[in-house]
Amino acid sequence: MLDKVEKILIDEEKLRNRIREMGRQITEDYRGKDLIVICILKGAILFTSDLVKEIKLPLSIDFMAVSSYGTSTKSSGVVRILKDLDEEIEGRHVLIVEDIVDSGLTLNYLTENLLSRKPASLKICCCLDKPERRMAPVKVNYVGFNIPDEFVIGYGLDYAEKYRNLPFIGVLSKDAYQE
Ligand code: IMP
Ligand code: MG
Repeated sequence: MLDKVEKILIDEEKLRNRIREMGRQITEDYRGKDLIVICILKGAILFTSDLVKEIKLPLSIDFMAVSSYGTSTKSSGVVRILKDLDEEIEGRHVLIVEDIVDSGLTLNYLTENLLSRKPASLKICCCLDKPERRMAPVKVNYVGFNIPDEFVIGYGLDYAEKYRNLPFIGVLSKDAYQE
């Protein structure tokens, strides 16, 4: 598996330190509020599980699954809800937790969809941002790391459903695309 990693972009220690800072900030911002964290499956599972441990507040966690990528490395531009929330979010403070913002199409769609359910507030927290690639406007409130336009894997991010379990963020080697 490691032979498909061209280089490590963000190692475990960097992830841990940045997530601790983000958790601290979110803790300050949401003190006294009814917070619901929405993990966007599947990519955000590792990030969400580490992040919520650093948010020192009572909160609930819910999940939503959407698809915007097939098994390729290019966005289809089509967003489908594969699994909707279990909980109601009306009147609650919603924090969407996502793995990466790329074209922005997924989060642009999700934001509109969730806003129509009338939450008290809606913010976005993502582990990675590729600002160069933006096609749809998205306001990301908490960003872990800005990264260049390279296809990354690990820490929840996949290529054709593989590599999510790598504990770091790495760049996929070019020869892995051919398989
Ligand atoms: P967007 O709609 O183009 O912003 O894409 C968002 C989704 O595409 C993310 O939640 C990821 O699942 C996937 N994605 C975008 N860039 C990458 C990448 O570099 N590696 C793995 N998945 C990615
Ligand atoms: Mg994906």
